[in-house]
Amino acid sequence: MSGEADRRVGELRRLIEDANYRYYVLDDPTVPDAEYDRWLRELQALEAAHPEWLTPDSPTQRVGAGPLKDFSQVAHDVPMLSLNNAFSEGEVVAFDRRVREGLEREGQVDYAVEPKFDGLAITLRYEHGVFVRGATRGDGYTGEDVSANLRTIHAIPMRLETPHPPALLEVRGEVLMLLRDFDKLNQDARNQGEKLFVNPRNAAAGSLRQLDPRITAKRRLHFFAYGIGGVVGVELPPTHSAVMDWLAALRLPVAKERRVVSGVNGLMGYFSELGEQRASLPFAIDGAVYKVNRLADQEKLGFVARAPRFAIAHKYPAQEELTVVEAIDVQVGRTGVLTPVARLKPVFVGGVTVTNATLHNEDEVRRKDVRVGDTVIVRRAGDVIPEVVGILPRDPQKPLPSPFAMPTSCPECGAPVLRLEGESAARCTNGLACPAQRKQALLHFAARRAMDIEGLGDKLVDQLVDHGQVATPADLYSLNIEQIAGLERMAQKSAENLLAGIKASRHRPLARFIFALGIRQVGEQTARDLARHFGNLGALMAADREALLQVPDVGPVVAASITAFFRESHNQAVIEALRLAQAWVDGEALPVSPGRFAGLTFVLTGTLPNLTRDQAKARIEAEGGKVAGSVSGKTDFVVAGADPGSKLAKAAQLNIRILDETAFSQLFDQGERPT
Ligand code: IVH
Repeated sequence: MSGEADRRVGELRRLIEDANYRYYVLDDPTVPDAEYDRWLRELQALEAAHPEWLTPDSPTQRVGAGPLKDFSQVAHDVPMLSLNNAFSEGEVVAFDRRVREGLEREGQVDYAVEPKFDGLAITLRYEHGVFVRGATRGDGYTGEDVSANLRTIHAIPMRLETPHPPALLEVRGEVLMLLRDFDKLNQDARNQGEKLFVNPRNAAAGSLRQLDPRITAKRRLHFFAYGIGGVVGVELPPTHSAVMDWLAALRLPVAKERRVVSGVNGLMGYFSELGEQRASLPFAIDGAVYKVNRLADQEKLGFVARAPRFAIAHKYPAQEELTVVEAIDVQVGRTGVLTPVARLKPVFVGGVTVTNATLHNEDEVRRKDVRVGDTVIVRRAGDVIPEVVGILPRDPQKPLPSPFAMPTSCPECGAPVLRLEGESAARCTNGLACPAQRKQALLHFAARRAMDIEGLGDKLVDQLVDHGQVATPADLYSLNIEQIAGLERMAQKSAENLLAGIKASRHRPLARFIFALGIRQVGEQTARDLARHFGNLGALMAADREALLQVPDVGPVVAASITAFFRESHNQAVIEALRLAQAWVDGEALPVSPGRFAGLTFVLTGTLPNLTRDQAKARIEAEGGKVAGSVSGKTDFVVAGADPGSKLAKAAQLNIRILDETAFSQLFDQGERPT
């Protein structure tokens, strides 16, 4: 060997593996990709010129051996067993009791605790510090040799970082796909119109069992070590946690989330702590694993059947379950978007019983090929809406159900359905004439973050729309007690409460009102920006594209949606009716305060004991309120003195608040806007 080139080969291999370690194990890259690529090419060139220098642990050997015909079988010297599961605190308590009894221990036992990775079990064999073979678990006694695929996993070191490697080390751990790589893989598959993987574990399993390692290399798998299957030539430290530290020092990836805790309280504390972290971990886990920390204690406890007595897997409620699709319905949303929804045989998943799951849109149903009668995987993770992730293979003996088709007319109103080129959403073209859209628009209008109409839920909205009492949000403000009390399950009291809720929703700040209108693309924040920028609704309605583009974060799409909304005559009419109903207050962003009574209408009747009519009027107007001559649905307060006349009777009939002079004066003392 020529000394210089030989030295360089060693140096390049070290540089490349260091970079791998920093990037894939520590997640802390220090070398630019271009530099890394140059090193790899230089090493490849040197090895090509000196094939005798090539070793299997060279980083050039990670990518790209040709495809295999099949995997050869590997017998595990030490079997790869499984863990017993615990699903409740009671089962954890029982596990800890068995451990203490087995060890004849009075006090608390120390446990090494770690995530239960949701991937596939793997064993890696290192001889004198060099990776020689890796295999799947198989039946626990015999697995498949997937060495070529494992070499493509950059987190797996091809050489252990130690001057004194053990003669033999069998590392046990889990191969998995990081969530970001899984998302990217499925995104690419979607773009290519290919079949999607149902979850990261299936994607990892499918990738590891590829006969062509070049495909595995593209899939970007990851690995975590969680123990050892055997060691020859070094003495192990006395605890599992110290063994894990040693593996980490050898540059094997181990979970950052591992700890040592004491007793059941320690276990349960870790379980909830890890549960809270779960949603933000970069990989999927399905529980926590508890292991008696002292290796001597582990040995004493030993195994029962095919599982250790010294360890247990404490599982979180499954986030995926199987169930059957009973029907596929199509729901119409506020903006007319049609969403296919799978009606499911009830199934307990992610901690709740799920009966519906979204299928997102037509393309998604096609891609997953979900049909009525199919057995499907339902997923509910955290607070995310349940979804159908995929179907199980159908029984070829049974007749094939017909594929889902998006209806061509709206299931709610019968109007034509339109799907624009390049859009995934199909929409009902009927706008607010469609009762479903109307209902959703009303619910949005009344929502807490919009006009906040207390007591107006979906059952009521259904009835109000179905009985023709309410078509637009403006109609809410002219509802009367008889109309409401006549509805199903509506007692006088709840009818009064609803009316009070509607009334209280008057004079909301402009931003809320804009949000409540349900203009497409205009969420809460944009509504606030628009209100601040324009100050009043008239200015917003009059704004053209250019004026709208001046508003922070408003781009061409949002601007187009806003101008289209206000151009629509139906919308103009509804807004005018809402204006008459005094649904909002303009000018919240104006420098001059509009006054606490802005938007409120008073009617004066009879003779007040101390104030003249003109004095009362002046006080109201000084606070921005209005004084009207007659009582109507738009009246907020009637101020009544002696000998009031018919206005008072009318006010009582319309359920309008009546004030005497004392109550009237108190409005001014409150310092708050009267309601
Ligand atoms: S220790 C004797 N630790 O869970 C078995 N297993 O049911 C010792 N797993 O097939 C296994 N994370 O693939 C252990 N931190 C962890 C684990 C873990 C995931 C898997 C493993 C095994 C299955 C056991």
